[in-house]
Amino acid sequence: MKNKLVRFGVSLEGELLRKFDALIGAEGYSNRSKALADLIRKEFVSDVFSRGGAVAGAVTLVYDHHKRDTVNRLLDMQHDHGGIIISAQHVHLDHDNCLEIIAVKGPGAKVKALADSLKAVKGVKHATLSVTSSGK
Ligand code: NI
Repeated sequence: MKNKLVRFGVSLEGELLRKFDALIGAEGYSNRSKALADLIRKEFVSDVFSRGGAVAGAVTLVYDHHKRDTVNRLLDMQHDHGGIIISAQHVHLDHDNCLEIIAVKGPGAKVKALADSLKAVKGVKHATLSVTSSGK
């Protein structure tokens, strides 16, 4: 029954179900099954990440490109983490700002540590880390 679909019954408070339907409807889901499966997978990814297991993801940074110390520091850090960083995309967002999207892969704890240290660099205005996993 590894990948075979299995039907099961779920009992929920009416109000909770109403809110769930409204939420998934707004997100574009056409049925509850896919929405519920995605929620469950999200919990698994979160669990793997919190236990330091293998994840993949993206660190997104916005920083002032006029601040050369910031640019150099971010580049130095990326060169020191070649084992975790798969690729990086640099976008010259506007006259003042650069956007960098850094694809990462590795143990959750190391990925988070790298994202935290990139975020803490002076001159970085905004940083996010989003993680996913292959679901294995
Ligand atoms: Ni730039």
